[in-house]
Amino acid sequence: MPAQWGAAVLWTCVCIGLAGSAVVVSQETKESMGPRSIKKRSTNSADMVEVHSVKVDCTVTSRFAHTVTTSKALNRANFSQEIFFEVELPKTAFIVNFSMEIDGEVYVGEVKGKEKAKKQYEQAVSSGRTAGLVKASGRTMEKFSVSVNVAAESNVTFVLTYEELLQRKLGQYEILTRLKPKQPVHEFQIVNGYFVHYFAPPDLPRVPKNVAFVIDRSGSMSGTKIAQTRVALVAILKDLHKEDHFALILFDAKITTWKESLTKATNGNVTEAIDYIGKLKDRGVTNINGAVLRAVTMLEKERLKGNLPERSADMIILLTDGMPNSGESNLEKIQENVRSAIGGKMNMFCLGFGNDVDYSFLDVMSRQNKGVARRIFEGSDAAVQLQGFYEEVASPLLLEVDLRYPDQAVGFLTKSHYSQLFNGSEIVVAGRLKDSDVDNFLVEVFALGPEEDFQVQGKASVVNVIYPHQQYIFGDFSERLWAYLTIQQLLENSDIGTQKEKDNVTAKALDLSLRYNFVTPLTSMVVTKPEREDGPDGPLIADKLTEDQRQKAERHSGLPAHGGSSSRGGSRSNFRTSRIRSSSLRSQSDVDGDPHFMIKLPERDAALCFNINDKPGTIFNLVRDPKSGFAVNGQIIGKKKVVQDGNTNTYFGRFGIVHQKLRLRLEVSTQEIFVFHEEKQIKLLWSDTDSVREMNLDFTLTKNCTLTVTLRHSVRFMVIRHTKVWRRRHDQQDYLGFYTLDSHHMSASVHGLLGQFYHGVGFEVTELRPGDVQDKPDATMYVKGQTLNVTRHWQKDFSRVENGEDIPCWYFNNDGAGLVDGRASDYIVSGIFNADF
Ligand SMILES: *[C@@H]1O[C@H](CO)[C@@H](O)[C@H](O)[C@H]1NC(C)=O
Ligand SMILES: *[C@@H]1O[C@H](CO)[C@@H](O)[C@H](O)[C@H]1NC(C)=O
Ligand SMILES: *[C@@H]1O[C@H](CO)[C@@H](O)[C@H](O)[C@H]1NC(C)=O
Ligand SMILES: *[C@@H]1O[C@H](CO)[C@@H](O)[C@H](O)[C@H]1NC(C)=O
Ligand SMILES: *[C@@H]1O[C@H](CO)[C@@H](O)[C@H](O)[C@H]1NC(C)=O
Ligand SMILES: *[C@@H]1O[C@H](CO)[C@@H](O)[C@H](O)[C@H]1NC(C)=O
Ligand SMILES: *[C@@H]1O[C@H](CO)[C@@H](O)[C@H](O)[C@H]1NC(C)=O
Ligand SMILES: *[C@@H]1O[C@H](CO)[C@@H](O)[C@H](O)[C@H]1NC(C)=O
Repeated sequence: MPAQWGAAVLWTCVCIGLAGSAVVVSQETKESMGPRSIKKRSTNSADMVEVHSVKVDCTVTSRFAHTVTTSKALNRANFSQEIFFEVELPKTAFIVNFSMEIDGEVYVGEVKGKEKAKKQYEQAVSSGRTAGLVKASGRTMEKFSVSVNVAAESNVTFVLTYEELLQRKLGQYEILTRLKPKQPVHEFQIVNGYFVHYFAPPDLPRVPKNVAFVIDRSGSMSGTKIAQTRVALVAILKDLHKEDHFALILFDAKITTWKESLTKATNGNVTEAIDYIGKLKDRGVTNINGAVLRAVTMLEKERLKGNLPERSADMIILLTDGMPNSGESNLEKIQENVRSAIGGKMNMFCLGFGNDVDYSFLDVMSRQNKGVARRIFEGSDAAVQLQGFYEEVASPLLLEVDLRYPDQAVGFLTKSHYSQLFNGSEIVVAGRLKDSDVDNFLVEVFALGPEEDFQVQGKASVVNVIYPHQQYIFGDFSERLWAYLTIQQLLENSDIGTQKEKDNVTAKALDLSLRYNFVTPLTSMVVTKPEREDGPDGPLIADKLTEDQRQKAERHSGLPAHGGSSSRGGSRSNFRTSRIRSSSLRSQSDVDGDPHFMIKLPERDAALCFNINDKPGTIFNLVRDPKSGFAVNGQIIGKKKVVQDGNTNTYFGRFGIVHQKLRLRLEVSTQEIFVFHEEKQIKLLWSDTDSVREMNLDFTLTKNCTLTVTLRHSVRFMVIRHTKVWRRRHDQQDYLGFYTLDSHHMSASVHGLLGQFYHGVGFEVTELRPGDVQDKPDATMYVKGQTLNVTRHWQKDFSRVENGEDIPCWYFNNDGAGLVDGRASDYIVSGIFNADF
């Protein structure tokens, strides 16, 4: 087979506001930061921070991505206040630098060994003035957030830099930049004394596999989980190829096998197995040890008997949702038993379902047996996750892949032997040239194919590439990529083997992390903040979360995970929790024309929308905050003229707004506006331009039928009256829109059709595809634990421009089912001022 070595490729992209990497700058008034700062309070705080620029520069050289996010903001207020900066980054990335520039002074984060950082941090924790900076955010991202006190009329610049190697899975690079794999499937690049070799040969036949599915059916799997497992297994079985063999081993305290031995995946056998899976029921406790050992024995026996193709991949896929509590239950004993039984002859993949599994136990066990572990998140898409994982390992193409480079030419190689190459993935090897003048050395790859041996050879030579952005790191990208890969592989081995081996590997990984300034699980970045007038601030600490830590945090809180030690009591009181903090992201939830409901998330440069139509007269609760006694209800009106096509489109025609603490009621209809405040009653007409100002409230009615209401330290919103005119029909329709302008003072318990989104909503959009209507693509959205289909819509937004601007939004069908908590009917209230606080 001829070898082709592609030339080095440099892709540069400047990605601003990409879905996957959002940057947010926002501010809080001092009032909400705790009692000690009540003295400095602000009004109209939303206007007091001016964001000058938010920029995401992402340079991808080869597959190595270097991302710099820069945000500049100005505190326009005449008092100092806290400004927040948040960035979402992929969890496979390593942070490499962070700095804040305030008043010409630059504060740079310093990467230190975790122990050292922790000492400094813990000393500060006792003074109650510190916080962790990184927390989990969704399944694939983590959020870096920091706040700093900025003096009156001062600028602040935040710069965060992170790097990652894009991984190829099922033929795609799974990342925000969504790169499609470029043609060169062999690529060899040498830059500044380091080389990178990407290996993914095209058009290879599949190697048969022999796979034992070891499935937990203990009581904890009951209900949805077992049903999802059944669905996934059926799909997986149907996907097996005729040359494959498979076994089904079900376990609780007892171990049941479908057949005593592995079975050829013929149509007849698969059908029979699917039938069996259909009867899969949950029961009993969990004997992982026994079940896995049974799988090993089965595979071994079948090999010995010569029933399996000589060149085929033996693998065990374990799915469990709990702790071993029957048979052997000592975790280390199980790992030891499994490792010695497998003896390097098979690959073991572990899928941990939900948050009750001991993920680190599964993780270590799979790595001890040349496999990987994966978390399966509970949610309606769990079956899809299971299948997705299986597809990644479904088609081995080569076994025992050995990538060889001459010893005299290169050193410090990353892993260069892989037990399989799966279809759609690629192998990346990096190393250092021993002599920077070296040229034209031989590169060889040996492996086992299904029928015969696979072998390619090629000559590597230094390509002279001009890098346009040399001033970026990218002169030394191959060196950093080498360091990144080496650290990741060392970390993979840092908890397996003897204590001495573990220590050795850990020491090397730490040394490299420090040398290359990577925030890894072994290091932390310490950020020292400027002093405040009322004393010094403690240091902040940015950690790298391990999957294990993410899982533990999710298990304990139900809230998004916090990094490392940041969830200590001391830090919580001073820094409000992430959910509340994200309120300052100015997520704006509105009601207006069709679709009625629009949730704008400026920090993600995205909006979500849905519609709820009901009988005219129905009143829905839009906002309800029991803490402040604030509520907004909206009443639906029908179209004035019933259209022949039976279209039941509706509008909002009346709003009732209550603020118990301020003793305020406001009724806004398409005709008039009533304000009931303490003992007074005021009536305003839409034709007026008027304003009402009191200590804590401010009503301004402008000519264009816009009523802006500011309730001090509580909320700011706008009601707009629209008049839609159909000239030909000599008809017009009045209706109302409600726009939340500032909701960041609302408490964590705020709810209602709009209120539940005030503190933001996490979601991921994937699988963008053409929709039924041109320019209205469909996509799959993962939100609130569910997978839903959404469609691109356009919505008129009147909050900024008098005539409205068209903004794109993701539209949810069925009254927003899945996006909205509960059902639309749960929000119906009986009176325009009724709110059950
Ligand atoms: C800040 O400005 C407000 C009005 O804009 C003024 O009333 C107040 O005195 C100013 N405070 C200081 C500390 O300058
Ligand atoms: C981190 O950023 C600061 C400020 O931009 C810069 O001076 C410093 O050299 C950077 N450090 C590293 C290791 O890149
Ligand atoms: C803040 O930055 C902006 C934009 O870079 C600049 O125009 C302005 O003068 C700066 N203001 C202060 C107070 O430094
Ligand atoms: C590998 O994946 C590609 C793309 O998904 C597919 O076209 C090809 O048939 C697969 N090859 C094998 C052997 O499964
Ligand atoms: C089922 O598998 C067995 C064992 O591998 C094989 O002998 C038999 O032919 C298969 N049966 C059918 C109906 O394909
Ligand atoms: C780690 O092991 C290597 C051999 O694998 C040895 O050369 C090195 O000295 C050891 N390092 C430490 C810190 O023990
Ligand atoms: C989403 O749409 C796809 C086709 O576009 C369809 O196969 C799937 O069943 C839909 N899922 C849901 C939950 O509606
Ligand atoms: C309404 O008019 C006022 C001034 O008359 C203007 O400031 C405001 O932006 C307008 N509102 C909208 C929504 O266009």
